[in-house]
Amino acid sequence: MTDPLSPYEAPEIYDLMFDTLDFDLPYWLKVGREAGGPVLDLGCGTGRILLPLLDAGVDADGVDLHRPMLASARKKAKAKGHRPRLTAANMNAFKTPRRYARVISAFNAFAHADTTEDQLATLRCSREHLEPGGAFVVHMSYPGPRYWAEPDGEPVMELEVRRPGDGRRIQMWDTRFKDVVGQRQRSEIEIREIDEAGRVAKTTGLGTSQRWVYRFELELLFRLAGYARWEFFGGFEGEPLEREDQQMIAWAWNG
Ligand SMILES: C[S@@+](CC[C@H](N)C(=O)[O-])C[C@H]1O[C@@H](n2cnc3c(N)ncnc32)[C@H](O)[C@@H]1O
Repeated sequence: MTDPLSPYEAPEIYDLMFDTLDFDLPYWLKVGREAGGPVLDLGCGTGRILLPLLDAGVDADGVDLHRPMLASARKKAKAKGHRPRLTAANMNAFKTPRRYARVISAFNAFAHADTTEDQLATLRCSREHLEPGGAFVVHMSYPGPRYWAEPDGEPVMELEVRRPGDGRRIQMWDTRFKDVVGQRQRSEIEIREIDEAGRVAKTTGLGTSQRWVYRFELELLFRLAGYARWEFFGGFEGEPLEREDQQMIAWAWNG
């Protein structure tokens, strides 16, 4: 059996589902504007965060493993007159000629570092790309007990959007398989296009997996990767991380 197509090989579907998400955008704009130097968006995808950063006058570049995502980001940036440096590379072994005031990892991109070695290599490589006094900033969902107790192995409709143009409903059904001990989720995703009569007119199968990380584990990883200090938050307002339903945001400084 061949592996299912990664959602990141289908940037038009990614954008349809996620490009209008802006819950985290004010945060990243603030991070970018206050960086005091260039910003690298690690796992920048189609530019959901990168493009608004560039629009706001932030000197920002991107790295992403999946070329179709980068191609989409490049096209959008060009249309707006921006010329970011976009590098196709694994986040655990990327190389850019510049150093950055901030390396950011938005919207669970770090969950694609699948093993401890991947996580450490990603953190080390990010640190090597930071200016002195620079910071790696990561946002991850916090996988608390409620998350693990959600339906497993059953399709759940996660999102429904109307496709601009023909107005057709597009649904994202996610069947999640959770591995509590491995701290992983494997997703079998079905994108359903619904016709005017309410019938499923077309389906596209996608698959991905995410590796979750907890606060003190991430702290140890920062320590091992050579960061000088770190700070954790429980959301985009700088609130303390104290409840399982919060988002985890961590800053790690290289000096
Ligand atoms: C959840 S998306 C986030 C995209 C974008 N940061 C956003 O907020 O919309 C995760 C991104 O990480 C990229 N990615 C997955 N594995 C990667 C890896 N090993 N190295 C670099 N990028 C990776 C995917 O192609 C995708 O664009």
